[in-house]
Amino acid sequence: MYVPAHVVTNNDLTQYMETTDEWIQERTGIIERRYAHRTEETTTTMGVEAAKIAIQRAGITVADIDFIVFATLSPDYYFPGCGVLLQRAMQMKQVGALDIRNQCSGFVYAVSVADQFIKSGMYKNILVVGAEKHSFGLDLTTRGRNISVIFGDGAGAIVLQPTEDNNRGILSTHLHSDGNEAEILAMYNPGTHANHWKANAASFNDSAMADMFMSHAMIDKGENFPNMDGPAVFKTAVVKFPEVIMEALAANNYVAADLTLLIPHQANLRIAQFVQHKLKLRDDQVYNNIQKYGNTTAASVPIALCEAWEEGKIKEGDLICLAAFGSGFTWASALMKW
Ligand SMILES: CC(C)(COP(=O)(O)OP(=O)(O)OC[C@H]1O[C@@H](n2cnc3c(N)ncnc32)[C@H](O)[C@@H]1OP(=O)(O)O)[C@@H](O)C(=O)NCCC(=O)NCCS
Repeated sequence: MYVPAHVVTNNDLTQYMETTDEWIQERTGIIERRYAHRTEETTTTMGVEAAKIAIQRAGITVADIDFIVFATLSPDYYFPGCGVLLQRAMQMKQVGALDIRNQCSGFVYAVSVADQFIKSGMYKNILVVGAEKHSFGLDLTTRGRNISVIFGDGAGAIVLQPTEDNNRGILSTHLHSDGNEAEILAMYNPGTHANHWKANAASFNDSAMADMFMSHAMIDKGENFPNMDGPAVFKTAVVKFPEVIMEALAANNYVAADLTLLIPHQANLRIAQFVQHKLKLRDDQVYNNIQKYGNTTAASVPIALCEAWEEGKIKEGDLICLAAFGSGFTWASALMKW
């Protein structure tokens, strides 16, 4: 994992918007988050830092990586994706690079894709990265406070490899989506939607051949920032998280009590506590570090996985479940024997 050095506390945010440490902690559990250096760090550079550690810990070199999967919703460029920028920055061979854009579920989706390539025998050392530089695209005024206080920057990475041992590795992955709620947690602009899906999502000049992608009016009205109906996200998250975890356990003939550690996407501490309660898990069976990093979207699961492993909470043979829910809506789980 890699997180930027710059710590932003809840109190720091009160300089920019009307909020309080108490409100943020009570509703989300977050105490502080990291913000990337404004010009020296990008989503890709943070992904590179995490990738270097993952490659070193896997006991291989950059030259051994034969595929890249990069999950993010805050890419350096609208296109091309971060995968190729990482390939260039790490001076890798001309291997395939796939970008995944499933927001908070991005890393678990990425793990699932990598798992299929490993199981089919196509690749042997897949670098899977989740990274976000949210701080660059947040409305840090009172207008955007319900979203801005939640998110932070960072990156995590793993190297996925095949094993001959049938009792180890990824047992199964489970992926879901429901696009009916796409606009509930979304950044509409810039985009090509032209208000097709949602009225007044963007202010643009619709006279023939005028630029509809980005306009001064959109910026003036703050239409370039993310939108979130927090309570609606919360309500669905607390249903879908337990569902997809139970789906993973049932598919492998396990029950919740068998879990060594659940590593949920760090969306909100209250959501994780709700899931813990629903599945009747002990405190030591659920890993939370949102207090320190906020919600880092595609980076949150690998950052939590890394910290849990570094703290000795994950050992060989343990039953580990990764689970995520987020914008789309999309949700997913991966059950593994470490
Ligand atoms: C966002 C979230 C923390 C808001 O908490 P909530 O209890 O639902 O709060 P509401 O949105 O109903 O807002 C309650 C009040 O707090 C205010 N408020 C919103 N953000 C605030 C902030 N940062 N500081 C202080 N007050 C804030 C609202 O304006 C509202 O005021 P009002 O009652 O005068 O209108 C909560 O809904 C949540 O965590 N949802 C899930 C979000 C999530 O996980 N997103 C990522 C998905 S992967």
